[in-house]
Amino acid sequence: MKKSNKIVEAITTKDTLLVPKYSEIESRKDIDITSRLSGAHTFDLPLISSPMDTVTEKEMLVAMDQCGGFGILHRYNKIEEQVKIAESIKWEDKSKRKNTFVGAAIGVTGDYLERAMELCGLVDLICLDVAHGHHILMKEALNNLIKAGVKNNTHIMAGNVATFQGFEDLSNWGADSVRVGIGGGSICSTRIQTGHGVPNLHAVMECAKSTCDTKLIVDGGVKNSGDIVKLLAAGADFVMCGSLLSGTKETPGKIITSESGEKFKRYRGMASKEAQVDWKGETSSLEGVSTLVPARGSVKDVLREIETGIRSGFSYSGARNLCDLRDKAEFIVQTVAGQAESSIHV
Ligand code: XMP
Repeated sequence: MKKSNKIVEAITTKDTLLVPKYSEIESRKDIDITSRLSGAHTFDLPLISSPMDTVTEKEMLVAMDQCGGFGILHRYNKIEEQVKIAESIKWEDKSKRKNTFVGAAIGVTGDYLERAMELCGLVDLICLDVAHGHHILMKEALNNLIKAGVKNNTHIMAGNVATFQGFEDLSNWGADSVRVGIGGGSICSTRIQTGHGVPNLHAVMECAKSTCDTKLIVDGGVKNSGDIVKLLAAGADFVMCGSLLSGTKETPGKIITSESGEKFKRYRGMASKEAQVDWKGETSSLEGVSTLVPARGSVKDVLREIETGIRSGFSYSGARNLCDLRDKAEFIVQTVAGQAESSIHV
């Protein structure tokens, strides 16, 4: 015998539904969807914009902040460029520091420590942003950041992982929050390319078993407010979104007009060929794609609609807040026919 295999069935958001529960909530306004990240940092909207170069630069970060969530500046530029963007958000002029919550991503190799030291004191959160975060390089990077004092005044987010052990290890290595999700993003080809990944809802449910105080950030694959409600109910503290915000006015990049006059914006995986060539002039492992998405209006309109959906979702579970949602949530698995019935089928 070469190996005795044990297979676990892993479900994702689309496989499930939440069972509606008795509710005494009369208005969506009575629902509190806030989520606490750490210390004094509580957010009215538990959403984070992805650190991707077609999602989060200054405009997106400011809009996310104004809508109650927060954004993380991508790391696919020179240190001085990223610092300049962070500075321009934090200071209007040199005399007044703004309260805007600023997150910024760094890697775990190369000049990451220098980048962290330049950002430290300027930003509120540093995100160690790598595809496979359950890794010795992550352990060393977290150790170096902590030794350098970054954790004293800056929230440290790390990831991505997709297992309970990954979540526990990154927590024990010093992360304040951990991103959960491998290969589930709309522009990801990791699962096709490498055969690895874990359906997101399953990954969240596993990581949520941890007794660590670390915040759980689910990342990738979110298509609508229903997905967000399910992931929060399963144990996520925040939901990170790329595609849900793509194409909006606040995303970096120009509008591309087709011959027939349709307007698009580019949305690309950071491990896509196009992004890698732009960033480092060559490609290594290609685990993402680049695509055009319809250009849309303001992210504020998109988020308003999503927020309404989230509030309705809490109400269907009879939940007044996040804690209540987790207590009351009852998941059921849908059959293929059930999934078809759950989508629009006129
Ligand atoms: P959504 O589904 O919101 O996912 O578009 C956004 C998340 O996808 C991750 N990401 C990638 N994953 N290859 C990957 O496997 C890539 O090229 C890539 N680019 C981004 C990232 O975690 C993001 O938040």
